[in-house]
Amino acid sequence: MQQAIAILDSGVGGLTVVREVMRQLPQEKIIYFGDTARAPYGPRREEEVVRFTRQIVQYLIQYQPKLIVIACNTATALALQDIREQVQIPVLGVIQPGARAALSCTRSGIIGVIGTENTIKSGAYREALQTISPTTHVISKACPELVPIVEKGLFDSRESRAVVRDSLASLVRYPIDCLILGCTHYPFLSDAISEVMGPDVTLINSAEETARETSAVLYHRGQLAESGTIPVHQLFCSGNADMFKRIARQWLSDYISVTSVVWQVTKL
Ligand code: DGL
Repeated sequence: MQQAIAILDSGVGGLTVVREVMRQLPQEKIIYFGDTARAPYGPRREEEVVRFTRQIVQYLIQYQPKLIVIACNTATALALQDIREQVQIPVLGVIQPGARAALSCTRSGIIGVIGTENTIKSGAYREALQTISPTTHVISKACPELVPIVEKGLFDSRESRAVVRDSLASLVRYPIDCLILGCTHYPFLSDAISEVMGPDVTLINSAEETARETSAVLYHRGQLAESGTIPVHQLFCSGNADMFKRIARQWLSDYISVTSVVWQVTKL
């Protein structure tokens, strides 16, 4: 049996990381868990986010993955350390990769970060950015309205554009040149976010850098799947499977058409 990369999120957001892992590592099998029944995690108490993340990891670990990606900024900010202490395999988060990607892109050193209430409140991006580059100026903004519209599958509607415009209104007056999409749900709204921020602001999505780190870790451990392997992915969600499948099929259409996917609804 092929050992998988396990990827998790509160809902469909982590699929933005899944797509990048599928693009960079097409031979790798992915087991994904979206906790759609309990999303959003952004406004939840820290104790809940840690408990839910532990439950998902316990569920995924029975499939004996070779690496876990916490493809949720909120869970990365609040539970990454805890999970690393619980399991024996590498566990990657999305905040360090996102911070690195932003620092390699900014010219002005003024970086914007948007995320859930929990992620922004944790200060995890500010810390990650300023640990590498102490003079970086960070402008942060929580955008709690964005995750629910993504979970409803409204990526390019009049409603989503209006919500994005309102959420970002206070950010546009700052001279940032990079905006970190510090929530894995936000890349679904990239077009609308870009429209509001304008052409001079580069959107940073941690998916690409996270997939690169996944690849590097597996390479160093001698655990990359053989090229030519055709994986059968497993996508699990805890809530409404119809919406989850619709979004996953649409978002991953370039990658899952040539492979098989097993879908499953699982209550934790
Ligand atoms: N996609 C997740 C994140 O990156 C969680 C969003 C939420 O559930 O509030 O933060």
